[in-house]
Amino acid sequence: RTARFTLDPAFTVGKVDPRLYGSFVEHLGRCVYTGIFEPGHPTADEAGLRGDVLELVKELGVTAIRYPGGNFVSGYKWEDSVGPVDERPRRLDLAWRSTETNRFGLSEFIDFLKKVGPQAEPMMAVNLGTRGVTEAIELQEYANHPSGTALSDLRAAHGDKDPYGIRLWCLGNEMDGPWQTGHKTAEEYGRLAAETARAMRQIDRDVELVACGSSGSGMDTFAEWEATVLTEAYDVVDYISLHAYYEPLDGDVDSFLASAVDMESFIENVVATCDHIGAKLKSKKKINLSFDEWNVWYLSKTQEEAESNPLDWPEAPRLLEDNYSVTDAVVFGSLLIALLRHADRVTVACLAQLVNVIAPIMTEPGGAAWKQTTFFPFAEASRYGRGEVLDVRVDSPTYETKKYGEVPLLHATAVRGEDGTVTVFAVNRSQDQELPLEVALHGLELSELTEHTALSDADPDARNTLDDPERVTPHRISGSALDGGTLKAVLEPLSWNVIRLS
Ligand code: AHR
Repeated sequence: RTARFTLDPAFTVGKVDPRLYGSFVEHLGRCVYTGIFEPGHPTADEAGLRGDVLELVKELGVTAIRYPGGNFVSGYKWEDSVGPVDERPRRLDLAWRSTETNRFGLSEFIDFLKKVGPQAEPMMAVNLGTRGVTEAIELQEYANHPSGTALSDLRAAHGDKDPYGIRLWCLGNEMDGPWQTGHKTAEEYGRLAAETARAMRQIDRDVELVACGSSGSGMDTFAEWEATVLTEAYDVVDYISLHAYYEPLDGDVDSFLASAVDMESFIENVVATCDHIGAKLKSKKKINLSFDEWNVWYLSKTQEEAESNPLDWPEAPRLLEDNYSVTDAVVFGSLLIALLRHADRVTVACLAQLVNVIAPIMTEPGGAAWKQTTFFPFAEASRYGRGEVLDVRVDSPTYETKKYGEVPLLHATAVRGEDGTVTVFAVNRSQDQELPLEVALHGLELSELTEHTALSDADPDARNTLDDPERVTPHRISGSALDGGTLKAVLEPLSWNVIRLS
């Protein structure tokens, strides 16, 4: 059976905020060290930033980059990461049982962003695990105050005369999680987040602040956590965060392919909770969603490894270095579709993470950098998924999943650019069947199918590796057509598709 939907510019979801294409650099494993930063690497610049990685980061098209954690931030002493490198202390990083050398710090991160380009902006997290209001506002003063105070002058003395101008701040990380250093109850965290937010706004009332939501929709405290935190902090924060990671469990690939069902319902439930608290508080303000950690992550493998082989405080160990298959990339593309389908309320999102650690870009110390399969859906969405999201309601054949029941085989969205071109992003969740697709185009002046590309493979387990870095890349699909106001295409089994119309 054919899957169908209609596109009409009269029916839209909302404008895509460029921050939807954010990512995340945590001091974790080799994301920073031998990832973005490797002095002595043949492509490194004078600051030690790897030129090959910078090129790939630019091509990926990332915008807001969250830093420095993650779990790492809950033990972060920002003072350690600034000033003369030789004087910076080595510290225990409790989150990842590693040693943090602080050779790369705040100033180096801002330099990295500048080199990525003007679309890149910092999304800085403050430590609300082991620290609090004072350290948050001191960091803000160091980073953003122009001059004439102890901390702003210290920044200048460290070589950065111009303030960093950080607008977007995370108030801690995953404070609902028992694994978090300084884990708190919702009441404790809600008060601390509100107090920190108020103080930060006393310095600059225009900062944009993200309160921690739940670490996942499966947390026992989910929804009640958001409600309690927002009851305390509604007036002083702008966003609530969501985190979600997906993996196939017990070999159940069918459910894995439907992961976006969970992601979409997570988003809708958080929106409902935010609006419920807004209504209770009689507030006109809307809280938006910052989906600031999302990805495919073989988390159960990471947990098993951590339990069977606890680290003995190494520097930049190989951690969370998942190597992604074609199947993983199709699920990943579907997660991007889920975010775009909720672009009215999800206005910040960060792919966790950027390099080496559950990342689209991999590196070898002293050697090559290459693209994982997940690199392609992200780069394509960031490139073509700018403008207005059109409302897509699919009529699709379905399949049965253990986790989510009956699920449509087609998962899709469409974005209309400012120039009137339209890009359809579509995933076929069937592992063995092609899916014919027909899209009726109403009120859109489109006459040409510019290109249809797909990421799929006869071997769904195919991956890119150091030895075979271009094993998987998107390929062109011929035979798709725009025919009398209807787009007709056939989606290959287990595929991520980008269909551009002009
Ligand atoms: O992205 C990896 C880790 O996942 C982050 O440090 C943490 O916030 C989450 O649990």
